[in-house]
Amino acid sequence: MRSFVHTTGPSRVIFGAGTIEQVRAEAERLGAARVMLLSDGSPALRKNTERLREALGDLVAAEFDGAVMHTPVEVTQQALGLLRDRHVDCLVAIGGGSTTGLAKALAARTDLPQIIVPTTYAGSEVTPVLGESADGRKTTRSAPEILPETVVYDIDLTLGLPFAMSVTSGVNALAHAVEALYSPDATPAVDALALEAVAAIGRALPALHHDPSDREARADLLQAAWLAGTCLGAVGMGLHHKLCHTLGGTFGLPHGETHTVVLPHAMAYNASAAPDAMARVAHALGVPDAATGVFDLVRQTGGPTSLRELGLTEADLDRAAELATAQPYPNPRELTRTGLADLLSEAWQGRRPQPAAGSAPDLRPLTDEVVASFDGCANPRLRQLLTDLARTLHGYAARNDLTPQEWQRAIDFLTQAGHITTGTRQEFILLSDTLGISSVVDALANSRTPETTSSAILGPFYVAGPPAAEHGADIAGGLEGTPMWADIKVTDPEGTPVGGAVVDVWQSNEDGFYDVQLPDLDGPVLRARFTTGEDGRFTFWSILPSEYPIPDDGPVGRMLSAVGRHPYRAPHVHFLINAPGHQPLITQLFVRGGAYLDGAPGQRDAVFGVKDDLVTDFTPHTGPTPDGRPVEGEWRLLDFTFRIAPSDGERAPTSSTETA
Ligand code: BEZ
Ligand code: FE
Repeated sequence: MRSFVHTTGPSRVIFGAGTIEQVRAEAERLGAARVMLLSDGSPALRKNTERLREALGDLVAAEFDGAVMHTPVEVTQQALGLLRDRHVDCLVAIGGGSTTGLAKALAARTDLPQIIVPTTYAGSEVTPVLGESADGRKTTRSAPEILPETVVYDIDLTLGLPFAMSVTSGVNALAHAVEALYSPDATPAVDALALEAVAAIGRALPALHHDPSDREARADLLQAAWLAGTCLGAVGMGLHHKLCHTLGGTFGLPHGETHTVVLPHAMAYNASAAPDAMARVAHALGVPDAATGVFDLVRQTGGPTSLRELGLTEADLDRAAELATAQPYPNPRELTRTGLADLLSEAWQGRRPQPAAGSAPDLRPLTDEVVASFDGCANPRLRQLLTDLARTLHGYAARNDLTPQEWQRAIDFLTQAGHITTGTRQEFILLSDTLGISSVVDALANSRTPETTSSAILGPFYVAGPPAAEHGADIAGGLEGTPMWADIKVTDPEGTPVGGAVVDVWQSNEDGFYDVQLPDLDGPVLRARFTTGEDGRFTFWSILPSEYPIPDDGPVGRMLSAVGRHPYRAPHVHFLINAPGHQPLITQLFVRGGAYLDGAPGQRDAVFGVKDDLVTDFTPHTGPTPDGRPVEGEWRLLDFTFRIAPSDGERAPTSSTETA
């Protein structure tokens, strides 16, 4: 069991396109009459700041455009002077982490409400944490009044964010999510938000690399930034954030870029101490190893990979390692000066981190090459099916760390299945049936008309073109068994009889064998073709079906016994109905009270073919029979109405069997 305390901040979040127009209403909601508009004055922000100024209209009482990175206290003091002069009662900040930092610093000193309009993916807008720098040192603190009251996310504002900044800002958000996953304060809610953020960032950055104006990818990334920021606000951060604060606060390195370079190395450092978190990150990103996956993502999208290119000198590394270990803070792996010095040296040089010990090789290039080999396929459906088959099989091998011996056994199994297969013994159908795939395909094709009788699998013993029989015929060919009178009706979903429907019926004998399994038997027995009359009806004599084992003397039987499964089918009769203007129906009727209908999974029908509405009474009777045929002792009555669907002309027919 996991014990935890989860605290959620009271921020209000507005997310969408064009939401900048709602900022004035939000300010009024907070009771504001004199707003101070904060920005960093950068040319890139000018147009959006102008739009916000217009949206706020006469609420703007002051404007400060001097926000800078790392929130220096002297800048905050300047803005504070203006705020007091103009009797400001609400802060509205537009921009990235720097402007948000300034709004928070002012709120920490005045308790004024804040509305933040982020234009990057910093995430700090949803945290109660303020980082400030003074005298070359960065300090952080957390307080309820620091948490902004309202955040207005407008994806339109991020469309113009240069792609390079989208990468560094996106990786900044990724860092919040990654460190949240191994934080001692993490909760199930934090985990869920963090993993969603990781997956979305992993999807969005390559998509934006391809097309920076992709609105869906922009929305994905902005939403991920919010989720990751929420994680950042809910839990304490570890080594990565500490290093970035040190490198930013003391050495003046740019915030987003530093996060981008350091994250893979901090992850590699912590990997051995937080294997679960790393495995979840790797899974969310769809890569074999989390740290190298993040490094590759940055490299692939053209982000910075070395501290050297950010302007740090090699001589600074030792001091940075010393500062980052000066005060203790929670981190999954113990922090040592030499360990951090090595980490920083790797990050300075821009080396790809080593994958965690024992992590799987990166199979993506191989899989991608196989998938690309189908590109020339002219049939798009075939291309799709082969592509997904290759991806699924490669994924299966990778997830299970499949050994060559295991794969060889699988190939031997299929070879044996091929050798035992004949015209009347179809081992591959048995394999499909016993793995449940036949029932899955059947359900996909046939379960969309709930008002009709359920379908069921065809099985391997159907023979096309069975002998035609008259109503009332006996199809048992004199075989032993409890006599069974079947009175069958075929209607449409409204109950209108379907005349002229061609119905093939087949079943096993009392010992569980179909005629095709008994070479000494003379001619087709226990199989016939009927045609319904105008009343939709037909009748016949047969024998009560019993449970029987599917053929289990081949590889499929050995598979069943290896997993402790029995090979039995619940007692049933098969029907295949074809009627003009209607969809074909392949189904089975099961004897209520028969064996293998109930029980634990693996104890029921061996091919997963039973559906509730197909279990029906085969009612015992004695005495006179419906057609006056003399019967000694018990006979059974099967009285059933099949409801079949009209053809809708849209879906393909359910059966590939020949009926003529
Ligand atoms: C059958 O019902 O005939 C059957 C279905 C699947 C496997 C073997 C037999
Ligand atoms: Fe059967």
